[in-house]
Amino acid sequence: MSIDYQEKIPNNVNLSEDRRLQRALEKWQPGYQQWWSELGPEGSHQMDVYLRTAISVEPGGWANYGHVKMPDYRWGIFLAPQEEDRKVNFGAHKGDAAWQEVPGEYRAELRRLIVTQGDTEPASVEQQRHLGLTCPSLYDLRNLFQVNVEEGRHLWAMVYLLHAHFGRDGREEAEAMLERHSGDADKPRILEAFNEPTPDWLSFFMFTYFTDRDGKYQLASLAESGFDPLSRTCRFMLTEEAHHMFVGETGVGRVIQRACEIMNEHKTDDVRKYGGIDLATIQRYLNFHFSVSVDLFGQEISTNAANYFTMGLKGRFQETRIDDDHLLKDATYSVAEVKGDGVVFSDQSALTAVNERLRDDYIRDCQRGVDKWNRVIEEAGIDFKMTIPNRAFHRGIGTFSAVKATPDGRIITQADWDHKHADWLPTDEDRAYVTSLMKAVTEPGKVANWIASPAKGINGTPTDFEYVRFN
Ligand SMILES: [Fe+2]
Ligand SMILES: [Fe+2]
Repeated sequence: MSIDYQEKIPNNVNLSEDRRLQRALEKWQPGYQQWWSELGPEGSHQMDVYLRTAISVEPGGWANYGHVKMPDYRWGIFLAPQEEDRKVNFGAHKGDAAWQEVPGEYRAELRRLIVTQGDTEPASVEQQRHLGLTCPSLYDLRNLFQVNVEEGRHLWAMVYLLHAHFGRDGREEAEAMLERHSGDADKPRILEAFNEPTPDWLSFFMFTYFTDRDGKYQLASLAESGFDPLSRTCRFMLTEEAHHMFVGETGVGRVIQRACEIMNEHKTDDVRKYGGIDLATIQRYLNFHFSVSVDLFGQEISTNAANYFTMGLKGRFQETRIDDDHLLKDATYSVAEVKGDGVVFSDQSALTAVNERLRDDYIRDCQRGVDKWNRVIEEAGIDFKMTIPNRAFHRGIGTFSAVKATPDGRIITQADWDHKHADWLPTDEDRAYVTSLMKAVTEPGKVANWIASPAKGINGTPTDFEYVRFN
């Protein structure tokens, strides 16, 4: 079977000139397509969706819009342009030329980093696969599918690296990406947050705000890698990730806006009575999604993370803009821990604390969107503030996983937790209520009652544009 890759798989890696790589991808592609048809967006295969497709990395080239049948989406392979004379910018090899091939001594570590990142991409598609059936509008349906096809493309990006640079083990890892499935009892996805279903649209918006943002920080620190192909791949993925977080930020914002509208219109706090989602429920969803997302940064003190840094494989957020020696031999960093019934900070080796530093960067970034949501509430004249829970709250990984804490960071007993956690995390009743609202609205320009209309359309289109055509 011969496939014209320039035609079928838009790319800027000269696929057509590398026969070995072409053959490897040719073998992998049917499995990918089968995975998409079985575990990609349910019921979507006949729809024409107004999607952006990357066809080059030049400005304008990576955002080509048009109606596409999703199984025919052209999942491309793009690396950001090679920077001349790029160096390894941190760790033991600082100052060396960036590696164009995998350094033999770090092969296993690099493979593990790429596989762990790659595994999250198809996982989120699997987690979100039923959502299309209950879209609150065509605009939202289109955004869901945009996120899904790009996560598929991110899998291609990681699989390309595995095939191009890791020989036979790389091919085996690429196969395994399609064998593990989100929530599968025998072969689950690698990271726990990617095995939870995304059962409703409020969860989807929270996921794209908080969990895709974890992706942003992981990609940004891999974009600093001394392994240049990984760096270039991740830099291009970050351009797409921005839209996913936009979907989350504006999505949650619109749910909040609608709750405020109902409160003002009916002079009531009982938003549910009028089919909206009350602010307290939104806050509980926020608490849940934030806490499972901060877990993704791993242990506060991590020798693995220190090793990745010293090896030059994974840097800190915006490594080259940090004003220090980029070696971290004697530097310290303030790390959170439990003391008595509170959270305190103490200086630890900055090298073993790179995970914690990345988590701090992430938490600061999360706050920006929450501030915007609070402005919506304030402008509606309502006395309520969304807050990000303390990092000690509801943790499954790291020092705080051993304790129970309130959203404001007070350590409490198990008995207190059992008594109070229904105030802080979505209850079965909350979830049942949110689920009861999930009914598809597919008339152009119309939106479900529990969410406000988008402020503007995609790519300059009006909001009543026919983003998805059902055939
Ligand atoms: Fe992604
Ligand atoms: Fe994403």
